[in-house]
Amino acid sequence: MRKPLIAGNWKMHKTNDEAEALAKGILNALSNENSVDVAICPPFTALERVAKVIDGSKIALGAQNVFWEDEGAFTGEISPRMLISLGCKYVILGHSERRRYFKESDEEIRKKFLKVLDRELIPILCVGENLEDRKAGKTWEVVNSQLTAVLKDVTLNGKEMVIAYEPVWAIGTGVSAKGEDALEVISSIRKRIKELLGEEYSSSTRILYGGSVKPDNIMEFMQYDEIDGALVGGASLKVESFVGIVEKVASGRKWKM
Ligand code: PGA
Repeated sequence: MRKPLIAGNWKMHKTNDEAEALAKGILNALSNENSVDVAICPPFTALERVAKVIDGSKIALGAQNVFWEDEGAFTGEISPRMLISLGCKYVILGHSERRRYFKESDEEIRKKFLKVLDRELIPILCVGENLEDRKAGKTWEVVNSQLTAVLKDVTLNGKEMVIAYEPVWAIGTGVSAKGEDALEVISSIRKRIKELLGEEYSSSTRILYGGSVKPDNIMEFMQYDEIDGALVGGASLKVESFVGIVEKVASGRKWKM
């Protein structure tokens, strides 16, 4: 069975002092947690400070974005090498806010995805439909096209990836998807991974749900074996709510390593 992963996406929140305090709070509360993988993704500016706090612990560090070149004249961008030098393990890619506000295309996300894998970072690839798509019955069409654009004809050579299904209408709205709706899309994603990458990837890849996850609704998703954890935005900004989610998963889900 896949080990659950709870990843906190801090988005554009937290100064360095605030980030350090939040990371310390999370570390103190979760230092004995073994049954759930935990990652925190602060803004670039706070990565180094947070890395120092969680150094040597089981909490992993992630970034929220990356560029697809190692170095060069790309003003304002951050490369995989830089993230590795700070101790990052994960990188969120294709988050809907990047697709929407920064017009990131599937093509760009694919370039980032390939580079990240090549550099031994683990991509957390986000896919999800917006409200219009859902109302028009196009949820799977949209999710499938985002997924296929990145994964088609890719050779992963055993490298790990994570997928996050995040319906755009559920992000930051307080209105999460229903567990069964998330299950339906996530099951389809797993089937599609099988077609694109084979049985091994389909059964080993962790697929998360994201969108208004809180301690009191996390088990709506984690009751299903198909759903392997969550990408958490708002609720990852406070120690109590983030730790609350991890603890619910740790105690509420029966799983074996
Ligand atoms: P939210 O954000 O938990 O605040 O809805 C989730 C995300 O954007 O990853």
